Amino acid sequence: MKQIVITGTSRGMGYEMVKLFAEKGHKVLALSRNDKPVSELSLDNVTTFSCDVSKAEDLEKVSAFIDAKWIKVDILINNAGALINKPFEEITAEEFQKIYSTNVFGVIGLTQKLLPFMNKNSHVVNISTMGGVQGSVKFPGLSAYSSSKAAIITLTELLAEEYKENGPSFNVLALGAVQTEMLEEAFPGLEVPLSAKEMANYIADFSLTGHKYYNGKLLQVSNSTP
Ligand SMILES: NC(=O)c1ccc[n+]([C@@H]2O[C@H](COP(=O)([O-])OP(=O)(O)OC[C@H]3O[C@@H](n4cnc5c(N)ncnc54)[C@H](OP(=O)(O)O)[C@@H]3O)[C@@H](O)[C@H]2O)c1
Repeated sequence: MKQIVITGTSRGMGYEMVKLFAEKGHKVLALSRNDKPVSELSLDNVTTFSCDVSKAEDLEKVSAFIDAKWIKVDILINNAGALINKPFEEITAEEFQKIYSTNVFGVIGLTQKLLPFMNKNSHVVNISTMGGVQGSVKFPGLSAYSSSKAAIITLTELLAEEYKENGPSFNVLALGAVQTEMLEEAFPGLEVPLSAKEMANYIADFSLTGHKYYNGKLLQVSNSTP
């Protein structure tokens, strides 16, 4: 039984992951601003409360919970993500900051808070996108989103190096297109073969076993463009 923290659990892949891990008997802390969808599942081994990963006071609540109830975190999946689809010149400084505060500073803040509870066998899995990979096909309108997701790719490599002696392991998955609300925002009307549940299944398996084989690695989990 693993103790697993997942962000972005109110819908899409994060929500599916909560159900998958719970079915397998793992303990889950599910974090989203909207905690209703997960609390309505009423699962014994799942805890949820409202958490905005871009807010310091909310991250404080997370470390207080872990300190009081779990002590140890085996897996952290930084899955929460925010997207804006707008021409570069129309994106305001506030909008750029909002995307970065979830996609970059949220990952940094929560990881810093949870590191004291992780050990050599723990695994941090960051969720990025193919658009954040250097040299991949790019799409107009996604400058804020994809550049923020590029930042966490390099961050992952740096943290793997910095913590290589005593862990945890850090890996990053650059996902291709998955049928979720976010995909609809980025590519309205696009229909793709992969469901949120299918990709959640892959991420869940990777989170449980990937650190045996990989550290500081970027895996491109994609079979289509976009
Ligand atoms: N779908 C794709 O094709 C695709 C492709 C590549 C990468 N990804 C990445 O995969 C991850 C999951 O995406 P998805 O498609 O499942 O997206 P989604 O359906 O839009 O869900 C995004 C989740 O992130 C949460 N979230 C957003 N801002 C947050 C914040 N400040 N604090 C806490 N939670 C926050 C949302 O919950 P609340 O609104 O309740 O906070 C929601 O549960 C994201 O990181 C995304 O960038 C998706």
